[in-house]
Amino acid sequence: MTDIPIEVTVNGARFRRTVAGRLSLADFLREELRLTGTHLGCEHGVCGACSVLVDGRSVRACLMLAAQADGREVTTVEGLGEQARPLRECLARRHGLQCGFCTPGFLITATELLQDNESGKPLTEEGVREAISGNICRCTGYQGIVEAVLEVGNETETRDDT
Ligand code: FES
Ligand code: FES
Repeated sequence: MTDIPIEVTVNGARFRRTVAGRLSLADFLREELRLTGTHLGCEHGVCGACSVLVDGRSVRACLMLAAQADGREVTTVEGLGEQARPLRECLARRHGLQCGFCTPGFLITATELLQDNESGKPLTEEGVREAISGNICRCTGYQGIVEAVLEVGNETETRDDT
């Protein structure tokens, strides 16, 4: 398959590369850019471990081609930075991670949820469970993850009201 020139912004930095037409965005991030926080589990769109934000929306990086990221803005877990610190701390405090393999994907998905909810109503457990339903965790039983997202989301809501 033909190589394709792309220009993509990843975590705020612009990259110009020529990529194989069949190279996945996940492999591009991990192997070309050495951003190994994007994990690969199932590699066919089921587990959510490879989730990244593309133009602010979460996508499965194993299902997207690097060539499709041309001209777009990608944020990986490394790029969440300080924005995700409250959630990282809450996940640790509430035992929302054990091996941590799924955690980057959950951080991406939860960040999208929290951003979408910034001016909205308090998060509900049902809403959080639905939002994270595309991310699989084999260790935690999800309860701590749900509690962490609820705590961060609803603290933000409280701060916005003051
Ligand atoms: S590795 Fe992409 S969804 Fe599982
Ligand atoms: S913490 Fe191990 S898979 Fe989620």
